[in-house]
Amino acid sequence: MCGIIGVTGAADALDVLLDGLERLEYRGYDSAGIALLDHEEIFRARVADGTHSVTTLRKVVKADYRQRAAGIGHVRWATHGHPSEGNAHPHLDCSGRLAIIHNGIVENHSQLAARLIKAGHVMVSETDTEVLGHLVEEQLRRSGGLLEAVRAALAEVRGSFSIAVMSADDPELIVAARRISPLIIGIDGAVSYLASDIPALLGRTRNLLALDDDQIAELRPGSVRVTDLDGQIVEPRQLIVDWDVESAQKGGYDNFMTKEIHEQPRAVADTLAGRVDASGTIVLDQLLLSDEILSGLSKIVVVACGSSFHAGLVAKYAFERWARLPVEVDIASEFRYRDPVLDETCLVVGVSQSGETVDTLQAMRHARESGARVIVVCNVVDSSMAREADGVLYTRAGPEVGVAATKTVVAQIVALELLGLHLAQVRGSLSGAEVAGVLDEMRQLEQLLEETIGRAAAVEEVAEAVAGARDFFFLGRHAGYPTALEGALKLKELSYLHAEGYPGGELKHGPLAVIEPGCVVVAVATGGPLKEKMLANVAEVKARGATVIVLAEDGDDEVAAVADFVISVPAASDLLSPVKDIVPLQQLASYLARSRGLDVDRPRNLAKTVTVE
Ligand code: G6P
Repeated sequence: MCGIIGVTGAADALDVLLDGLERLEYRGYDSAGIALLDHEEIFRARVADGTHSVTTLRKVVKADYRQRAAGIGHVRWATHGHPSEGNAHPHLDCSGRLAIIHNGIVENHSQLAARLIKAGHVMVSETDTEVLGHLVEEQLRRSGGLLEAVRAALAEVRGSFSIAVMSADDPELIVAARRISPLIIGIDGAVSYLASDIPALLGRTRNLLALDDDQIAELRPGSVRVTDLDGQIVEPRQLIVDWDVESAQKGGYDNFMTKEIHEQPRAVADTLAGRVDASGTIVLDQLLLSDEILSGLSKIVVVACGSSFHAGLVAKYAFERWARLPVEVDIASEFRYRDPVLDETCLVVGVSQSGETVDTLQAMRHARESGARVIVVCNVVDSSMAREADGVLYTRAGPEVGVAATKTVVAQIVALELLGLHLAQVRGSLSGAEVAGVLDEMRQLEQLLEETIGRAAAVEEVAEAVAGARDFFFLGRHAGYPTALEGALKLKELSYLHAEGYPGGELKHGPLAVIEPGCVVVAVATGGPLKEKMLANVAEVKARGATVIVLAEDGDDEVAAVADFVISVPAASDLLSPVKDIVPLQQLASYLARSRGLDVDRPRNLAKTVTVE
């Protein structure tokens, strides 16, 4: 999500930091900051100027910053605390002599903050990162050495991080560490670098090393020493870099969409992170709706557009089954013109990756005026919807550059299903064991997604086989229906081919009339309760000459017998299946677009954020 950079031993440290941050701009960010150190003091500058932050940062730094040889820098994509100068990194400790930058999520930051505040620490930001800084400060008082202090602090941290810490008491030293979030080190002569991503250092050095989980690096000018959490010396991995800057910005993938497809396991893990406490209770602290309000709800209305609408449709099945509440899902642009019946017992849930889509925003405003409780599930902290809603549930997918939504959609489904389980817990409609069972399964989604994404070559073969077709029908039933809709949407957005999504049961009410040889039917027949009925639909379209691709669970021989092509996915329960079933449909759309020579990141006529009606 965020991008980090650090340098020690460079005559042009300020330029290293600013140039590096510029190269991390492709990640998308809302604020930026740097800190340069000498024995006397820390020179810190931070700005929250949206995507202009690095440019503005260049303007505000003063001439004396140039005289420092070591520093750290950060571009932030807000997760904890809104985008502001005060929440931008680097953060300082109470003494003002220790600076820290961080990428990742400290899951137990609330507990750590409570303890530190009790011990007298003063927090001045809303971030989880600042807590980490104070934790290192506390340990520094005990151990006296920055490396030992960071090691001891990290032993207490749950979550993901790549961090870099500096102290004015030893200003040539940077201590950096990682768990889950990536961190690389570069050495070039007497200069040492660190960064979250390769592009930040290209042009400076290609002599790069990668840290593995729970490794800590001590960087001094021209040298690095890496140890594990027990203090044992480890040999960091050498990175072979044959990328140019542009492909490095895409993480080595051909385009942002492919990169973002591969980021889906992380997006799901981060969206779940820290939201279930040790006793198994779901904690959605920014929802700001009391248990009393949630218990008294009479219905839920989901409003959204595009792919977010499809995530909302999946949630309908989950909310109804788990929370036993009636659910309506509306296209936001229709909702506000249909005079919906709402009162304070209705929960209206806006779903939007951007938090800015004007139709969804207006639908939420309309719901508030009608007295309903309004919350939003969105990916951008402090977006218009987040500011106006009574409560927020953030997806933590990180910035999405590709116009066609991928990782934000799977994160939305997971966030909405967490909300469904939370409602079930508060309202007592599921037993503790039932909730725990679903949560266990949700934790496995990260692995299931990895596995599904890893099967791209099989999807590519299917795409090649149907590359000449012009008409695609996606069929699904139950939670497989929104999956089919999303598959059709991705295909039309990216490949400009005709694609429609239908519930399988509607086939006989129209679409069957146009099925003929040359049409491709993609049937989502993963293990939902209506699989048999789905296969009956497959037989109907096959009898009329369509080419049939079936999305089936591993080992499903019944499906293999009726399909022209089978795309196999790992099994999951019906309500969680869409999270990984969407993946091969994203890949199919992307391969078909590529075979037609199209730019998958920027489909014609479409925009990432639609702020006009
Ligand atoms: C645009 C984007 C889609 C997105 C839709 C809704 O059409 O291209 O990817 O699903 O808007 O956007 P939102 O930001 O509200 O989720």
